[in-house]
Amino acid sequence: MSGGPALATRIGTLAPKIALVLGSGLGDLVNEVDDAIRIPYAELPGFPQSGVTGHAGTLVAGTIAGTPVMMLAGRAHYYEHGDAAVMRSALEALAGVGIEKLILTNAAGSLDADMTPGSVMLITDHINFSGSNPLIGEQTDQRFVGLSEAYDKPLCSAIEKAAQETGTPLHKGVYMWFSGPSFETPAEIRMARVMGANAVGMSTVPEVILARFLGLRVAACSVVTNLAAGMSDGELSHQETKDMAPLGGARLASILKKAFADGLLED
Ligand code: HPA
Repeated sequence: MSGGPALATRIGTLAPKIALVLGSGLGDLVNEVDDAIRIPYAELPGFPQSGVTGHAGTLVAGTIAGTPVMMLAGRAHYYEHGDAAVMRSALEALAGVGIEKLILTNAAGSLDADMTPGSVMLITDHINFSGSNPLIGEQTDQRFVGLSEAYDKPLCSAIEKAAQETGTPLHKGVYMWFSGPSFETPAEIRMARVMGANAVGMSTVPEVILARFLGLRVAACSVVTNLAAGMSDGELSHQETKDMAPLGGARLASILKKAFADGLLED
């Protein structure tokens, strides 16, 4: 069953056209939402019941700087279920209540030594290295989604402009999707770099594909929580991801707040 009708009932006349998906440790952004309506995913049919710590599982609807918005605090990942389409129903519900633009956020490992933890990277393109695709099994010809311009230029420009105006450094680069849940090996990271990636992570790409399938305009930002495997001493951990995400998360929040305040995301 779809969560669309349940969601429509709960948000009433708000009519948001833009939604955000908040990645690991980035849930604080919901505190920027005024007059917040909080809806646990458990009350929205088809929404994922994520078990990953740091992924809360609440939809928050309200306004930022007067602009109606919805935020998905918590996402499900391919590695939890082996289902790359695990976010499909949730994204369909968003599209069903009139969402036209989607900003995805995630925590990521950096492949560039000068893009240190705490950095924010605007994703300009991606590499699907998971071997899966959320549209496998889709029977309509809409499954052949073009991804030449997956990341919407006006939305990306709006985020770049907001970063400039707030004086927040914003990197740009290619995000490579690994299935996880194990982290990469140093050899995989060397391969990823040769292939043209700037950051690696375990999410977002399937949602981008689904969102484009649904006709949504997409932008996405990574918050760097660590240098990728083999680039620094010690082992990577999910705890580190959660601990480090708020650093870049605060920067990303200031960029997005500015984008809302200046109405940059409106067209
Ligand atoms: N690899 C994959 N996913 C991640 C990483 C990483 O280094 N950091 C945060 N998410």
